[in-house]
Amino acid sequence: MAEPRISSIDGKLAEEFAVPSHVEEVKEKMATFASFHAEAGRKVVLITSGGTKVPLESRTVRFLDNFSSGRRGASSAEYFIDSGYAVIFLHRHRSLYPYTRMFLTINMLDALEFQGGDGGAPGNAGEVVVNQQVLPNIAQVLKRYHEVKEGRLLLPIEFNTLSEYLHLLKAAAQALSTIGTKAMFYLAAAVSDFYIPASEMPEHKIQSSNGPLQLSMKMVPKILSPLVKDWAPHAFVTSFKLETDATILLDKARRALETYRHQAVVANVLDSRRGYVVVVTPESQAELILTEEDVKNEVEIEARIVSNLTSAHKKFITQQVVL
Ligand code: PMT
Repeated sequence: MAEPRISSIDGKLAEEFAVPSHVEEVKEKMATFASFHAEAGRKVVLITSGGTKVPLESRTVRFLDNFSSGRRGASSAEYFIDSGYAVIFLHRHRSLYPYTRMFLTINMLDALEFQGGDGGAPGNAGEVVVNQQVLPNIAQVLKRYHEVKEGRLLLPIEFNTLSEYLHLLKAAAQALSTIGTKAMFYLAAAVSDFYIPASEMPEHKIQSSNGPLQLSMKMVPKILSPLVKDWAPHAFVTSFKLETDATILLDKARRALETYRHQAVVANVLDSRRGYVVVVTPESQAELILTEEDVKNEVEIEARIVSNLTSAHKKFITQQVVL
């Protein structure tokens, strides 16, 4: 099917997806962040992370969710910062977050203990300290977290619904357009392809007494198209392609590159995404694989993805200057 024209995507966004009330304020924050870091000689990456939520009712009880833990986005944010980038982290509320992601499986109360006192008697419980056996690397992570905070290297922005995601991504693209080729987009969020327009959504909770639910959902406009052509035309753009059928993956990744004419697609299959991805560009195809040794040494595939893309971004900037 033909891609809708850019102007029609802009119109559709305004008409059919509720505009978040804070979008202009967030856009200004992102623009200030981008110019501050660009002037300091840093590149800026916009990472999207987590899954979008599509409400089925306007007073929402039920919604359709896209699968994504947010680990790819959160760990990549850390590797981009380590590579000298400043990061705008556009993520789903309560999905994995840089640095704290490492402690997700730990019950906070198991990680704390009393020292001195008599261990909990009212008035003499002693001091609460971290149990180093439960959190052996906490000091190292905390130190890095504070360095990042002091350097203002991470700007977190949250979304919940598909509408919020789409409007905030557009705002981010426009904010980053001011820094041209120094901007990178790393679109790792899992974005719904289907939605119910605000005008067609029932206001109240859908009643089960009306019988089985039949839904008719519209196609979400592919936001990559205006992002690449119109909103941030000089940026380095990486999208992700997720499939469950490995046999169609590379074909779809290449087709995405041909359609949107951006710089890279990271192709992954749901079950193997932690240990194997392919970075596809118009000129190349790089398989990134974690060996058993890598896994033993706790190497993460995101370190390889980020290393591959930051090199490509560097080359991209040089080529644009020469042209
Ligand atoms: O979070 P984890 O659990 O670590 O998992 C990581 C991941 C599997 C979610 C991640 O690696 C990944 O593959 N993310 C993209 C998943 C996805 O939604 O793929 P897609 O085929 O639906 O979309 C392809 C690209 O088009 C994406 O970059 C998306 O941002 C973009 N898109 C999607 C829909 C839409 N309306 N407009 C878009 O531009």
